[in-house]
Amino acid sequence: MLTISDKKTLREQLVEWHQVGETVALVPTMGNLHKGHMSLAKLAATKADHVVVSVFVNPTQFGPGEDFATYPRTLEKDARQLSRAGVDALYAPTVEDIYPLGIENPTRVSVPVLSETLCGEKRPGHFDGVTSVVLRLLNIVSPNIAVFGEKDYQQLVILRRMVEELHMHTRIVAGETERDDAGLAMSSRNQYLTDGEMLTAPLLYATLCDARDKFIAGTASIASIESEAISKLKAAGFAPDYFSLRRASDLSVPEKPAGKLIILVAAVLGKARLLDNLQFEN
Ligand code: PAJ
Repeated sequence: MLTISDKKTLREQLVEWHQVGETVALVPTMGNLHKGHMSLAKLAATKADHVVVSVFVNPTQFGPGEDFATYPRTLEKDARQLSRAGVDALYAPTVEDIYPLGIENPTRVSVPVLSETLCGEKRPGHFDGVTSVVLRLLNIVSPNIAVFGEKDYQQLVILRRMVEELHMHTRIVAGETERDDAGLAMSSRNQYLTDGEMLTAPLLYATLCDARDKFIAGTASIASIESEAISKLKAAGFAPDYFSLRRASDLSVPEKPAGKLIILVAAVLGKARLLDNLQFEN
């Protein structure tokens, strides 16, 4: 596997592949790779001739007081995992490589409305940081496809919208959420949890499943199912930011639980802010 830290060297390799008509899939990550990331790399390998995984802890998507400084950085271990999985290239750029003019006032791209709801409400500017870095990565790599996880569903919807509206040529592919045996969605931030909190954390997914069953049963209102779920999470020690039923296509609030739906939850447990979601059709 090639490990590359500058875009010029990466472009030289990409040109070689593109010239002989070989396709490239990009899997953007912030590293500290787990089974969720690796499942995306595997999915990518079924969709293109070459897989590039980027590892870049993007400063512009962290707000003041968030965990940018302490975000787990494990590049050597990540490289070993990716190499074993048959990934062709690891692109681990410096901040200068991605933001040549610095991060004070970088050119930004913003997807309005979608970026302001749910996580966007709690983390203003976060999704502008995400779109601004993913746009740069897609411009540098020009991949045929880019793979993102359904785990970060709002991010996925926003990135799909950006690619569509900006007439970009990369096709976005979504990978399913990988969970541990207890149902907890894999996340780099799970390691902030204590042993005790690890026992509580799977309740997030269990609450999603329970709410889905109630929406399908149709015996209670949307608002009462949401507020009951929030109370249950609070009683278990979570500090929920939201627990919300939305339309899967555009995250709008449905009047009744019908069609392609998704329940999204974000809740703080100890030092970790956990995200999860569950799609269903009714
Ligand atoms: P990161 O949190 O490292 O996630 C990288 C990719 O892995 C994202 O597409 C995310 O949805 C996916 N992912 C995370 N946990 C997963 C799980 N349990 N199962 C399946 N996929 C999972 O998301 C980011 O980084 C950044 O915002 C990024 C897009 C790289 C931009 O900086």
